[in-house]
Amino acid sequence: MSKEKSAPDATLTVEGKTYSLPVVFGTENDRAIDIGTLLQQTGYTTLDPGYKNTASCTSDITFLDGKEGILSYRGYAIEEIAEKCVFIEVAFLLVHGHLPNPTEYENFRQLLKRFALIHEDMIHFFDHFPPNAPPMAILSVMVNSLSSYYPEMSDDPLKTLDATAARLISKIRTIAAFTYKKSVGHPLVYPRPDLNYCGNFLNMMFDKPVHPYTVRPEAVAALNKLLILHADHEQNCSTSTVRLVGSAGVNLYSSISAGINALWGPLHGGANEAVVTMLETIHNDGDNFKKYIDKAKDRSDPFKLSGFGHRVYKTFDPRGKIIKEACDDLLEVLNVSDPLLDIARRLEEIALNDQYFVERNLFPNVDFYSGIIYRALGIPTNMFTVMFALGRLPGWIAQWKEQQEDPNGKIGRPRQVYIGEPSRPFVPMSKR
Ligand code: SDX
Repeated sequence: MSKEKSAPDATLTVEGKTYSLPVVFGTENDRAIDIGTLLQQTGYTTLDPGYKNTASCTSDITFLDGKEGILSYRGYAIEEIAEKCVFIEVAFLLVHGHLPNPTEYENFRQLLKRFALIHEDMIHFFDHFPPNAPPMAILSVMVNSLSSYYPEMSDDPLKTLDATAARLISKIRTIAAFTYKKSVGHPLVYPRPDLNYCGNFLNMMFDKPVHPYTVRPEAVAALNKLLILHADHEQNCSTSTVRLVGSAGVNLYSSISAGINALWGPLHGGANEAVVTMLETIHNDGDNFKKYIDKAKDRSDPFKLSGFGHRVYKTFDPRGKIIKEACDDLLEVLNVSDPLLDIARRLEEIALNDQYFVERNLFPNVDFYSGIIYRALGIPTNMFTVMFALGRLPGWIAQWKEQQEDPNGKIGRPRQVYIGEPSRPFVPMSKR
């Protein structure tokens, strides 16, 4: 039974003929015109580069209100779950549709522990990447390779999904930590059964035989909050990629690998790395804010303020607000000071008082401050987008599952408007 509320049809007049198109209202009164019969009725398709005006599906996972800066997962406000949950609780919520009760939570925890290792053969893969291979390239290869080690996924995807979801959520953490350890030439640190999800990740990243790492609760709390804030965001570029690839019948591991590659882009998840590079550039250029604000405003200059602007949010990204507040607390408790935080604050203040940014509703997004926290935790810049992927994984899994379970689910195949050469006779090579 569809959950959309119905409303009076929309009418469309084309070439003097009027057509009726059904209107659907979502739970929070988001509304859409259902054009499912448009081509068949009118012979017309729609044209919408970047899908700015197009809803690709109905979904009951995440809700965004770009005007009010609202974000909720399965109906729970992001502010509340970021404050009151841990990441694996939210991962369970996104994948299964409800917050886990104590038994479900414990079972999920045990599954994550059981699946924490990767096949020892996969560890040799790391030896064959060039030393400076981008961690996101390694992550997508390793996650895609899981489909070779766990082929049962392709038989009946939904039957094995619970185990596969736990396997992926646990193994991606180990792959990420191993990627870092290999990049710095340190011995691999294996997951420990006595540590929780985030504590294990930090320990696998930073523990060393000669300098044992102390897992601090404040660092674990900060990482939980960051991963929760990144866990899902409706039909963004990488999530739409996961759904599109999955719609062709591709297994979950390979669909997620495609999502990892989409997230890597500097316009998307790669922005968190680009923000820190931008802040360092401004700092090294004598904190010359005006120069970079002017570059960002100059249409002839490709430079944009990384971490600013959003396709949906036309006010503060609620996630960015939470992260900005968390920055202070964490740096204070870890006794870390970061000049880039002051640069970020100053840049935000200047931009938000500049007409160019104000009239385009350009505010800091989730990526603007997240890098400051990752740095305070000791995570290197080239691992920031990997951290985004760790957080986003449960959302990708939930969205892939929703697409697979959709009784009307079809392979995604958009149309186009052809503007190339009209039909013309073939010219043999001798006559060209
Ligand atoms: C994420 O979709 C999601 O939900 C994504 C995400 C998630 O959780 O999955 O939220 C994560 O990807 C956040 C966004 C990270 N990317 C960045 O921070 C990169 C910098 N931002 C921009 O590239 C841009 O704002 C986008 C890509 C985020 C959104 O681009 P849109 O919606 O296509 O808007 P646009 O490029 O058409 O911009 C509209 C205007 C243009 O100016 P005019 O043509 O009107 O003169 O705003 C300008 C743009 O030039 N503009 C910027 C700007 N962002 C937009 N100008 C300077 N700096 C910027 N950052």
